Amino acid sequence: MTRLIDLSYCRFLMSLAGRSLLDISDLSREELLFLLNQTKTYKKTQVSKDGVAFSRQSVALLFFEPSTRTRLSFETAAHRLGLSTINLEEPNSSAKKGETIFDTARNIDAMRPLAMVIRHSGSGIPGQVSRLVNVPVINAGDGFHAHPTQALLDAFTIYEAFNEFKGLRVVIIGDIAHSRVARSNIQALRMLGAQVSVCAPPTLLPPQVEKLGVGVSYDLDDCIHDADVVMCLRLQMERQNSFQVPTLTEFTKRFGLTLERLEKIKETALILHPGPINRGVEMMSVALRDPRCRVIQQVENGVLIRTVLLSEILGVAR
Ligand code: CP
Repeated sequence: MTRLIDLSYCRFLMSLAGRSLLDISDLSREELLFLLNQTKTYKKTQVSKDGVAFSRQSVALLFFEPSTRTRLSFETAAHRLGLSTINLEEPNSSAKKGETIFDTARNIDAMRPLAMVIRHSGSGIPGQVSRLVNVPVINAGDGFHAHPTQALLDAFTIYEAFNEFKGLRVVIIGDIAHSRVARSNIQALRMLGAQVSVCAPPTLLPPQVEKLGVGVSYDLDDCIHDADVVMCLRLQMERQNSFQVPTLTEFTKRFGLTLERLEKIKETALILHPGPINRGVEMMSVALRDPRCRVIQQVENGVLIRTVLLSEILGVAR
């Protein structure tokens, strides 16, 4: 009898090949049972008695804010390591129906990825998620708080050029108040031995900014000439509850990387920007064409350092 059932299951297997499934009525009772039993068998090969998956092989990318560089470079990094990706983009997800990020993360954890990469507008969300799920969580940028992999790629870009950090003067310019990139870079570059200062109008500096261990300047022309690294930041229009500079033209006049300022920067200096750039606001097009500008190399390095990071965290060969 069992043998007969097995034979008929084989027939169903053949009969499902190439068919569409639009409704349960497209399946017979036997085909339904066939799929249930096949899944039971498959599950045994995937999960041990204690529920640990044997064949985790994907990285989940959960992006609740727009991203070009970070999302695509993590995706590229995962693919370079032979891993697939599960991509969640907030506008097309059940977050739109009211599901919390924490429930979303628990559900994605059930799909057994190797790790989760999370970008969210809420500061601290990746940290909270990391306490709820069973896999490593990598912060791809949370609110004003942190963007650690951006700081890693920036540090690598600087390291490639100078081979050391001690004695390097880094000036970070512009919207420091809303910048997770600035916070993570200040931490990383100071840890590595660089001297970091920030230059911005007072309205674009966080309260008690000196406590971050940085020098503070309100005059770019005063501090640009001795910098080894000039890091411009995007003016984050979408994060400003009331506009914090008189006009964009005024901001550019005082804090933009203009042709006149390019002439004041050391020949050996690097010009960095994490992107996306408001062309003509924080950087003029001429600054992007300048041989000292490493904006495109930063993106290239982002893939490399994220590949190394994923491979080290996951214990996957590269
Ligand atoms: N630098 C950066 O985080 O860029 P994206 O927002 O495009 O990821």
